[in-house]
Amino acid sequence: AFHLDPKHVEFEHDGLFPAWDVAQLQRGYQVYKEVCSACHSLNQVAFRNLEELGYSEEQVKAEAASWTVPGINPDTGEASSRPGLPTDDFPSPYANNVAAAAANNNAIPPDLSLLTKARHHGPAYVYSLLTGYQEPSAELAERFPDSLPGTGLHHNPYFANLNLAMAPPLTADGQVTYADGTDATIDQMAKDVAAFLTWTAEPALIDRIKLGWMVMGFLLFATILAWLAKKQVWADMK
Ligand code: HEM
Repeated sequence: AFHLDPKHVEFEHDGLFPAWDVAQLQRGYQVYKEVCSACHSLNQVAFRNLEELGYSEEQVKAEAASWTVPGINPDTGEASSRPGLPTDDFPSPYANNVAAAAANNNAIPPDLSLLTKARHHGPAYVYSLLTGYQEPSAELAERFPDSLPGTGLHHNPYFANLNLAMAPPLTADGQVTYADGTDATIDQMAKDVAAFLTWTAEPALIDRIKLGWMVMGFLLFATILAWLAKKQVWADMK
């Protein structure tokens, strides 16, 4: 097979008792901001949502202001831009899809907000895609020469059709300098941004699982109560 299933990768938010690794989400946000946001929007997320990643209201205000968002010039009514406010969504780096396609060899970088939900094993897929670029195998070249990457395309066995228009975005260890001092290997950055995109796609993931456990607990309790009541009601019947 030339197309590969996602690699195995573990996150704190996996399993029956998941939790957010908040430090990891912050690092993933840093990777998104410093690398991915050059091409990808995140338009289902507002700056104020960053408070869930442990940033204070003041920090969020400052963070929002470090981004430029589309606005309207109040004097002329023309389109312009302004610093972001906490209530703004993360902006698109391009004015529209035509501009996005023109800048990326005719492929439009998808909005990343929900991508880990849109793809099978999303978080592992994102991690695998980012760390999975490689030379096409000799076997592929021999058997399916038409599947070799064309101009402007890059071979990646984790991508469904083997070649994608995104050049490897993470190319060097230390590409970002993590605020928390973590060693920014390519592997680490890929994992962190995959975790961050899990949170953007389902910020209520942890609450959902916790609620599930509470419902299970309540149902168990209610079952025991019903059983005791039944015993009581039928106690005199032989
Ligand atoms: C596609 C993630 C950086 C341009 C994608 C896809 C993902 C992704 C998950 C979708 C693959 C799919 O459809 O299944 C990321 C992440 C980045 C990043 C996490 C940062 C670490 C960039 C940068 C650029 C870019 C910097 C532009 C220079 C594109 C393009 C596509 C794409 C053009 C569409 C590819 C195609 O459909 O052939 N990216 N990306 N990406 N990305 Fe990125």
